[in-house]
Amino acid sequence: MNPKIFALRALICCSLLAILVLPLIARADERADAIASTQGVVAHGGMVVAQEARAAQIGVDILKKGGNAIDAAVAVGFALAVSYPRAGNIGGGGFMVVHLAGGNDTSIDYRETAPAGIGANSFLDDSGNADPAKSRDSALAIGVPGTVAGLALAEQKYGSGKFSLADLMAPAIALARDGIAVSDDTADSLPNARARLSRWPASAKIFFKADGNALVAGDRLVQSDLADSLETIARGGPRAFYEGPIAEKIAAAAQAAGGVMTVDDLTSYQAIERTPVRGTYRGYEVVSMAPPSSGGVELIEMLNILEGYDLGGIARANKAQALHLMIEAMKRAYADRALFLGDPDRVANPLALLTSKTYAAGWRAGIDPLRATAAVDIRPGAVAQPEGRNTTHFSVVDGLGNAVANTYTLNFSYGVGLVAEGTGILLNNELDDFAAKAYAPNAYGLVGADANAPGPGKRPLSSMTPTILLRDGKPFVVTGSPGGSRITTTVLQIILNVIDRGMDIAAAVAAPRIHEQWMPDQVYVEPGIADDIVAALEAGGDKVVPQRPFTSANSIMITPDAFVGAADPRTRGALAVGF
Ligand code: DON
Repeated sequence: MNPKIFALRALICCSLLAILVLPLIARADERADAIASTQGVVAHGGMVVAQEARAAQIGVDILKKGGNAIDAAVAVGFALAVSYPRAGNIGGGGFMVVHLAGGNDTSIDYRETAPAGIGANSFLDDSGNADPAKSRDSALAIGVPGTVAGLALAEQKYGSGKFSLADLMAPAIALARDGIAVSDDTADSLPNARARLSRWPASAKIFFKADGNALVAGDRLVQSDLADSLETIARGGPRAFYEGPIAEKIAAAAQAAGGVMTVDDLTSYQAIERTPVRGTYRGYEVVSMAPPSSGGVELIEMLNILEGYDLGGIARANKAQALHLMIEAMKRAYADRALFLGDPDRVANPLALLTSKTYAAGWRAGIDPLRATAAVDIRPGAVAQPEGRNTTHFSVVDGLGNAVANTYTLNFSYGVGLVAEGTGILLNNELDDFAAKAYAPNAYGLVGADANAPGPGKRPLSSMTPTILLRDGKPFVVTGSPGGSRITTTVLQIILNVIDRGMDIAAAVAAPRIHEQWMPDQVYVEPGIADDIVAALEAGGDKVVPQRPFTSANSIMITPDAFVGAADPRTRGALAVGF
């Protein structure tokens, strides 16, 4: 084992010493058990679960026409860019994890990259402190978008071959060209996004009326410029986004707004096929996203730690104690994230170490079964709360045995808020996912250091965790979520709910969730976690903070009889649909 890593790990272990000694008491969490009767949507031919109904239906239409799960996922990805503009995108980036019917697993990394003009100090103020206004609210925050390259690569390598990219984009183009009725969810999101969007006339004119009022539910949203851009890409292929008029307009808009992106940055962008990270949990295989996502590594690390306990039995006897063990696993995995993980093309990520069972056993040995371990307060201070469902996850399965878990994002709702004039394309503010300065929290309170420092051409570390759980080598659960730092613990809890608590997928998705991320050293709990459980966690030394639900884990379970889809009930507008 690398001695430096070992020493750092020892340092974290030592710093996370238990300070409070109080027993945990618990009773069953009534609400989770009540929800356990939910069944989900059942289908046999194929299924899509996505955050917006029109896009989900477009995916199912492709499956019905003989497309495979990858074809459908690509069509959904482009459709959401039109119908779910707060997070669906072609101006952002994401990850796609794919299980192929032949048995192989792969993934497409289409995370944004930092433009060449971004350096280690790009997001600091004059005094050398991290400046969120630069990393979140300015055009400096815009990463080179990866979505078009990523979806096109997925289609070219793993599509059925029955459809051209243009075929798969046609429904999205129609939605943009003909217009769609604004959904409740989009209407609700616009007042909150006004400050971001209305800074730029090219954005304001799409989402706000001439009198300045936001579009309301039922209004018609026509996106002609976006339709033109999509058509250009459909005709010219993905290079038509990264070269020529679209790239020129994106670079010009970013620069005019104070950013540094150039056409060269766009031209040199590449989506990358990567080997997913793999782990096992009680005989199931976990296939998830490798860096530049931290999600898969952390997920496997937490599962490895928890595998050493009879979590199901403990939960039945004492739910608060099971939550305590989960919280302790979360803290340790997120501490490792902060220290070790970053763009794998720039820094060495110790993946084999962090995902090994022996490493997890070391962490487990330091967990007190009754008491919270305090995270050392490396950088105290206010931490912004995430804004809401600003990312989006969809799951797709087909009747052939292929499965796709795709999470993509603009980072904040509507990204940085800037639509590149003449393109209809909303641009991201993904570069806030870098550690602007060592241990300065990002918008999700996540800290990091050198491994995730900003740098030219570098990909900021993500939490997005599209994941496929395999049983006997075949897809069993397809899942993922938005939610910034909460994404990985959401996926963790869905897997634990299914495997350790025996829940069906709808119940596993609906059950109230908790979250802890090492820094800040707080346990976030959703409504539905019973008061006595909160009291028990507090008695054990945890600082418990209520959290409104905002993750949305659109998931599918493949049972011997059927595909069962579960749109997350926390959110409006999502749809599980199959045939
Ligand atoms: O890549 C990440 O981890 C973040 N940019 C994701 C942001 C997100 O999930 C926002 N949704 N609430």
